[in-house]
Amino acid sequence: MTKYPILDSSLIKSTIGFVKKKLADAEAGHDWFHTHRVLNNALNIAHNEEANLEIVALGALLHDIADSKFHDGDETVGPAIAQEFLEKHNAGQGLIDHVVQIINNISYKNSLDGNSVFESKELFIIRDADRLDAIGAIGIARCFNYGGYKNRPFYDPDIPPKLNMTKEEYKSAASPTINHFYEKLLLLKDKMHTDTGRKMAEKRHAYMLEFLEQFFQEWYGE
Ligand code: ADP
Ligand code: NI
Repeated sequence: MTKYPILDSSLIKSTIGFVKKKLADAEAGHDWFHTHRVLNNALNIAHNEEANLEIVALGALLHDIADSKFHDGDETVGPAIAQEFLEKHNAGQGLIDHVVQIINNISYKNSLDGNSVFESKELFIIRDADRLDAIGAIGIARCFNYGGYKNRPFYDPDIPPKLNMTKEEYKSAASPTINHFYEKLLLLKDKMHTDTGRKMAEKRHAYMLEFLEQFFQEWYGE
């Protein structure tokens, strides 16, 4: 038996196989291992909350199967694939609807334009779990990997971070990687929904501040 009995369910096991295949060629920051860390974070947080663990696990597993950044900005691909997969496996309609809503509403950029109307405990848990993977040591690694994938400079002293971006500005911003810390990563700890998530975020946030201090010391010569 696994640490979390929900992971022994046959639907969850099929979902894991499906997601691993879907993400086989993904960029390292949005690959199966990211999804797996989000699943672990989400189940750890859910342990302290009243939540439906099947929805938490399915939402975490399916949240990044077709991120719009990698699909020409199309935000409908991921939810549609998840819906089709769950229907094929005869999941109940209520469960399918909830998981699809989670995938539609989890992303950071969608939270920027105030259009995120759907709310649920399970969404909040998975969103915290996803945000935790965007900060701390892993967050730093993911950020630089994404910058490398987009061939962006680490830092450019002539380009200041853009704060308070709208969703559209955020999507088209081709910021140097260090700017992304100020544009998103350092803002996340104050946007956590759950107490467990908030506590975990504090430690990861402090680690990023230390990293930035050292980065600038080395950049400008100690
Ligand atoms: P979401 O997918 O939740 O809308 P993002 O688009 O911000 O969130 O992307 C998720 C992760 O991808 C970020 O946490 C970061 O690691 C990486 N990423 C996204 N945009 C950038 C960027 N401009 N520079 C560096 N990393 C980025
Ligand atoms: Ni994610």
